[in-house]
Amino acid sequence: MPDTDLILTGNNLTKSFPSKTGGERLVILNDVSLSINRGDIVCVVGASGSGKSTLLHILGGLDQPDSGTISWNGQHMYDMNTDELAKFRNQKLGFVFQFHHLLPEFTALENVMMPALIQDTDFEDAKHRAMNLLERFGISTRADHRPTELSGGEQQRVAMARALINDPDLILADEPTGNLDEENTEILLDMLFELRKIDKVSILLITHEKDIARRTDHTYELSKGKLHSF
Ligand SMILES: Nc1ncnc2c1ncn2[C@@H]1O[C@H](COP(=O)(O)OP(=O)(O)O)[C@@H](O)[C@H]1O
Ligand SMILES: [Mg+2]
Repeated sequence: MPDTDLILTGNNLTKSFPSKTGGERLVILNDVSLSINRGDIVCVVGASGSGKSTLLHILGGLDQPDSGTISWNGQHMYDMNTDELAKFRNQKLGFVFQFHHLLPEFTALENVMMPALIQDTDFEDAKHRAMNLLERFGISTRADHRPTELSGGEQQRVAMARALINDPDLILADEPTGNLDEENTEILLDMLFELRKIDKVSILLITHEKDIARRTDHTYELSKGKLHSF
């Protein structure tokens, strides 16, 4: 029986990339293991280029490790085929990236609705839920704006609402405040940390701001391919 509190486990993950100069491969992750419990906020800090995004992509089913395993509620993630994996990501995970990745030709509301529509949610139901999220993040008056008509902070709040629309179990946030000023960083982080209280969602937060680490349950530092408790 899987441990019910443990939602995601990465075991002995390795990842390397070919070196551009044709020498030895660059080892980015060297035997990295990480577990996330239900409702946990886990933070990974590390210098630029240390492999944080690589780790997040692997844990989020976006890129395969060279070796090692990832279990989700006891099931091996990369045993799923491409379609199963896409469905799994859509239903269980919410991604927030440094660059919001909103679709430019759609409004804020439509962007938030998108993952629900992909899951065949009824249109009016998706719209209702998306509006509620925009209201919760204080941006309902921006619902009909396209991403270019929004400030950086507003764009990231829309991206966060989009990550939540399918009620995910885990949010994977890759430097979500990397492009924000101090005030908007605080707003976004407060929202992120509130999620656990309200929605019991787990969060993997990748950041290069070590100060954030004080507000999380577990913080690790990724350095030279290894993950250390911080
Ligand atoms: N697809 C790729 N091909 C080759 N090298 C890559 C690829 N993705 C990342 N890298 C390299 O791996 C290292 C870690 O990258 P990344 O995970 O993006 O670091 P971080 O997010 O900590 O800044 C960097 O040196 C980067 O150039
Ligand atoms: Mg990165």
